[in-house]
Amino acid sequence: MALTNYNTKVAIVYSSITGNTEELINLLFSYLQSYSVTVMKVKIEDFNLQTISEYDAIIIGTYTWGNGEIPVEMRSLYREVERQNVGHLVTGVVGTGDRFYPHFCGAVDEFRDMLYVHTILTATMKIELTPQQQDHSKCEKFVRLLMERMMGQRTA
Ligand SMILES: Cc1cc2nc3c(=O)[nH]c(=O)nc-3n(C[C@H](O)[C@H](O)[C@H](O)COP(=O)(O)O)c2cc1C
Repeated sequence: MALTNYNTKVAIVYSSITGNTEELINLLFSYLQSYSVTVMKVKIEDFNLQTISEYDAIIIGTYTWGNGEIPVEMRSLYREVERQNVGHLVTGVVGTGDRFYPHFCGAVDEFRDMLYVHTILTATMKIELTPQQQDHSKCEKFVRLLMERMMGQRTA
């Protein structure tokens, strides 16, 4: 069944300092292009937090900072999803990190736990630094899972 009829809206909201997470997000964005959905890819500083509930699905992309922490600019998104009534929202969280640190992609874990409680968490993905060729199939699967779940929600 095509998703075209529903004007389904997906947001990819992310933060990236050195470009690793942005590269990952660009990959996901390219896989999303093969679906008939409206996709908005936006950096956290340009995202209007009051529009969260208008989306059918949100993909959150974050690097990890400090000792396994969510970067400071992503914390308002965390708090708003937690605060707003977004039980209908299909979500996925992805991130890049470095196994050198004790809490590899700790920010992904923190978002995951919150999204599991407040939204329809569907998929998570952690990538070591920059996405490699072998990560492309993971990205394709991540997007597919999200789209299937969203379609299931719309037809339920
Ligand atoms: C000060 C500092 C602290 C970091 N802490 C962690 C960490 O706790 N866990 C982790 O997995 N990666 C950690 N990283 C690695 C970054 O998350 C990783 O390089 C990431 O890919 C950067 O994403 P970006 O290129 O999108 O900015 C840290 C990096 C720096 C510079």
